[in-house]
Amino acid sequence: MTVPEPARTLTGVPGLDEILYGGIPRNNLVVISGDPGSGKTCLCLEFLYYGAVKYNEPGVYISLEESEEEIVGFAELFGWDIRAMMKNRLISIVTVELYDFDKLKNTIEDEISRLHAKRLVIDPGVVFRLYFDRELDARKRILSLGRMLKRIGCTAIITNEISLDKTTSLFGLEEYVADGVLLLYHTKLEDRFIRSIGVLKMRGTKISERLHPIRITKDGIKILANQELFEEVK
Ligand SMILES: Nc1ncnc2c1ncn2[C@@H]1O[C@H](COP(=O)(O)OP(=O)(O)OP(=O)(O)O)[C@@H](O)[C@H]1O
Ligand SMILES: [Mg+2]
Repeated sequence: MTVPEPARTLTGVPGLDEILYGGIPRNNLVVISGDPGSGKTCLCLEFLYYGAVKYNEPGVYISLEESEEEIVGFAELFGWDIRAMMKNRLISIVTVELYDFDKLKNTIEDEISRLHAKRLVIDPGVVFRLYFDRELDARKRILSLGRMLKRIGCTAIITNEISLDKTTSLFGLEEYVADGVLLLYHTKLEDRFIRSIGVLKMRGTKISERLHPIRITKDGIKILANQELFEEVK
């Protein structure tokens, strides 16, 4: 007897669905951990943008720091007309000041149901952990958020920050809730950095176990799924 394949959310991000062997299993909650400027926000926006244009799946962007204007402006640098999609209720951006977790959870639930959203981004999700004094509280609250997203049927990405040298990495949020963890890295090689991505885990699917180089260009982020990390510089 063959085990049925889980339904997938295709990210549409070039190369990413390949290294996940067919996309993110539906309703997974995925943490993207990356060092500063590694492309976390870019990848999140691209996930929502392609979700809307390629798959007609509405998405909600919960911003815990940046304003709507800043996010729209960032997307426009890559040629993504998020405003038009906001008009068509395919994308919504909500800036939330995190001072009451239950209120935040309600806002997320309401906005997802208003758009019939299938995708959710929370960026920078690292703020969650800073909000709670006790790890146990953070763990409980974030678990309940994860359960709520599964119940309403939404595939989510939450961003997390790690330091460049990785010695003081802020791992933690991942352990609490994530069904999947993607790592975005700057790897130092001689006199330059190489951008790369790795899949640390993804429940419900086979994954690539290699680090893959990524490119950020005027068209957004893309993963060179078939290229070895240091191949290009040999
Ligand atoms: N057209 C482009 N070509 C090359 N690189 C670009 C281009 N546009 C943006 N970038 C780079 O892509 C990166 C995108 O960063 P992004 O904001 O997504 O990272 P982040 O991980 O969210 O950062 P932070 O830690 O500040 O939240 C920046 O370092 C920026 O310089
Ligand atoms: Mg960012």
